Amino acid sequence: MDKKIIYSGIQPTGIITIGNYIGAISNWLKLQDDYDCIFGIADLHALTVRQVPAEYRKRALSFFAQYIACGLDHEKSILYFQSHVAEHTELQWILNCFTYIGEMQRMTQFKDKAAKHADNINMGLLDYPVLMAADILLYQTSLVPVGIDQKQHLEITRDIAVRFNNLYSPTFTVPEAYIGERGAKVFSLQQPGQKMSKSDPDPNASVSIIEEPDSIMKKFARAVTDSETVVRYDPENKPGISNLMVILSEMGGMSFDEIERVYGDKGYASFKKACGEAVVERLKPIKEEYDRLMGDKEYLLNVAKEGAEKARRIARRTMQKVKRKVGLVEQ
Ligand code: TRP
Repeated sequence: MDKKIIYSGIQPTGIITIGNYIGAISNWLKLQDDYDCIFGIADLHALTVRQVPAEYRKRALSFFAQYIACGLDHEKSILYFQSHVAEHTELQWILNCFTYIGEMQRMTQFKDKAAKHADNINMGLLDYPVLMAADILLYQTSLVPVGIDQKQHLEITRDIAVRFNNLYSPTFTVPEAYIGERGAKVFSLQQPGQKMSKSDPDPNASVSIIEEPDSIMKKFARAVTDSETVVRYDPENKPGISNLMVILSEMGGMSFDEIERVYGDKGYASFKKACGEAVVERLKPIKEEYDRLMGDKEYLLNVAKEGAEKARRIARRTMQKVKRKVGLVEQ
C-alpha cells in the first residue's frame, strides 16, 4: 500500500530557530521512513509582505540548505521551492472560485497581518490561505503537521476540499492535522511566556540553528530566569528556568532529574553555560554541513530541481483531474 502523504511548508522569513528544530524538524526526520513527506519552502507566501529581493533569494536558499543540513533527505522526501512548481498558483486560482471573500476576511492571521501592515493590505494577504490550501491539496496530502497558529488555515483547506468534492466527485484527499509525537515547545529566552519566534525583533529572544557558538553562549548567559537560585522544573512559577531545562534536555540528552541533580544548586550561571554548550555541541555538525552546502550552490540548485520535478509529477495529476471536473477543455 502507498504510504500516506505528509506536507509541510515554511516561509523563508526570519530565522530557523532551535524551537523549530526541537518542536518540528527533529520529528520530521523520524517521519521520513514511514510517510511520503513533502517539504516546501513557501517562497510565494512570504511575498505578501515586502521583501528585499537579493536578501530574500539568499534567505530562501539558506533555508533550503538548513533543511538538508538538519537531515531532511532528498532521496526519501521531496524538498523543493513552492515557486518552482507553477501548479500551486494554477490550483489556487481554481480554488479561489470556490472560496468566499467573507471566509478569508474572518481569518485571524489576515486580521492580524492587515493591522500590522495597514499600508499594504494586498490581495495576496487575503488569499494566503487559498495558496496554502493549494499547497496541501495538490499532493493529495493526508496529514499536515501544523502549529496552533496554522490550524485555522488547515480547517479552511478541509472546507474547500469537501466543498469541491461534494460539488463534483471525490477529487481531493481531505487532510487532517498530524498529531503524532509532538516535539517539546520552546519559549523565548527573553520572554519565557511567549513561544520562541522565528521573526522576533529582539535578537536575544531566539537562537538560530546556524548561529555562531560565541553568540549562542552570550544569548544563554543573558536568558531571563527568576530571582531564586534553584534549578527546578516548574513551568508555572519558573518559566525561564523550565524552558532552559527543556532545551538542555532536548539538545543535550539529559533528563530533568539528571539536570536537577547536577545543576540544582550550582547557581544559574553554570546551568546557563551548560545549556549554551549543549546547544553549540548539538548544532555543530548541522552548521558544518550547512556551511559546506552553501559553498556548493550548484548542488543545492540541483537538489531543488530534482525536488521540483518530483513534486510537479504529482501536482500535474491532480491538476488534470481538477481541470476535467470543472469543465476545461483537455490539451
Ligand atoms: N503558512 C504556513 C506558516 O506560515 C507555511 C505554509 C505554507 C504551510 N504552505 C503550507 C504549512 C502548507 C503547512 C502546509 O507557517
